[in-house]
Amino acid sequence: MASMLLSRQLTCCLQQNSRLLLFGHRYISQAAAKIDVDFDYDGPLMKTEVPGPRSRELMKQLSGIQNADAVHFFCNYEESRGNYLVDVDGNRMLDLYSQISSIPIGYSHPSLIKLLQQPQNLSTFINRPALGILPPENFAERLKESLLSVAPKGLSQVMTMACGSCSNENAFKAIFLWYRNKERGHNNVTKEELESCMINQPPGCPDYAMLSFMGGFHGRTLGCLATTHSKAIHKLDIPSLDWPIAPFPRLKYPLEDFVKENQQEEARCLEEVEDLIVKYRKKKKIVAGIIVEPIQSEGGDNHASDDFFRKLRDIARKHGCAFLVDEVQTGGGCTGKFWAHEHWGLDDPADVVSFSKKMMTGGFFYKEEFRPNAPYRIFNTWLGDPSKNLLLAEVIKVIKKEDLLNNATHAGKALLTGLLDLQARYPHLISRVRGRGTFCSFDTPNDATRNKLIKIARNKGVVLGGCGDRSIRFRPTLIFKDHHAHLFLNIFSDILANFK
Ligand SMILES: Cc1ncc(COP(=O)(O)O)c(C=O)c1O
Repeated sequence: MASMLLSRQLTCCLQQNSRLLLFGHRYISQAAAKIDVDFDYDGPLMKTEVPGPRSRELMKQLSGIQNADAVHFFCNYEESRGNYLVDVDGNRMLDLYSQISSIPIGYSHPSLIKLLQQPQNLSTFINRPALGILPPENFAERLKESLLSVAPKGLSQVMTMACGSCSNENAFKAIFLWYRNKERGHNNVTKEELESCMINQPPGCPDYAMLSFMGGFHGRTLGCLATTHSKAIHKLDIPSLDWPIAPFPRLKYPLEDFVKENQQEEARCLEEVEDLIVKYRKKKKIVAGIIVEPIQSEGGDNHASDDFFRKLRDIARKHGCAFLVDEVQTGGGCTGKFWAHEHWGLDDPADVVSFSKKMMTGGFFYKEEFRPNAPYRIFNTWLGDPSKNLLLAEVIKVIKKEDLLNNATHAGKALLTGLLDLQARYPHLISRVRGRGTFCSFDTPNDATRNKLIKIARNKGVVLGGCGDRSIRFRPTLIFKDHHAHLFLNIFSDILANFK
């Protein structure tokens, strides 16, 4: 019975996939056809305005069940492939936002389809285990070939989680446990601690804090939200914690024209970090850790120099705070290195690095000294999903085989150069062009102009995302190539020329 079910599922999967392989795709060029990843369409194809009639009908249906105001349009994922997202009205759009930066190697990648077709993988997809207590035989091996094969320097340990917020939330806990053990030394836990923690009081619940930066985004769960400061709408009406918030540098562009000003701005922010740690300690709140994004993403693609981050790392060490780098959005290769913080050249690695999005699974890497000292202290039912580790192992193989980190650098250069050119031609619409790899962005004069540009681009077949109060960000897949950049730049150049 079970084998019949397995074989029926497999046949169905094969049928669907052969349909996918036979129809709808085009190879772009002779040169591009040499590699697997060009399982892609040859350009946008628009049939209706977006959202079209079918999307609007589905929005009405969904609105009856939940608040669906954030929905842009409904998608046809079966028809979406490569860098192109197809909607339910048959519109095919070049996707430069890729599900809020979370599609590593494009839609319906043939290597991932093949993985699903292999009978030995089926059980991993249908039997989701409680990984912390009943992992499958190959779990450690799978972690080694997926996550640990790309672990940031110096971090030998990893925990998987379901999403970015869950990863940061548990990373905070790992930091607090580490800090308390450091303070406690070899002394045993006291009866008072055990009793007071049950009523949310010290000493069992110590007054520890995470220091975060204005403009940062680390998720929407309660602990993470206390470190998120990108938009009021995320925080309004939710109780929070009195944890220190430091200013994040606001750099002036072009960088080469404002070297001195930007250095001063970074020095001011670093000074404030140290002042806050001391000030909070005086009021008996201990800053156990510092959390920072390599590029503040949701908050507006705010960059700081590599030197700023190296100095921040030094400050964390000097004050005995853990240094947590949130690579949920920047990780996975889009900046041209697998981890954006690798650009900094740290002597002493970060203590903890969280990830999700392009990594297919959430989780965090950490140094051995951050291992929890007992079971169930960092725990939940699923602790991720082994099927995602399987997919990730394949994604990493593709990244290596297709040299996609160098591709991100190369395609990113084409994109950035084109954006700088547009900035020179349309300075009243585009400013502060910035980026690393394909992780690029620019500012528009205001929120209304930004939203209008995104809407016009969508109707011309390009999906873009906004961030901060007036920025447009690029978050394409890792198989975004130079020719996709040129295609976008041509479309966008027309939009800017006709913008009223
Ligand atoms: C830097 C960063 N951290 C954390 C998160 C939260 O991740 P999730 O939405 O998966 O909870 C995000 C989400 O955009 C993010 O960009």
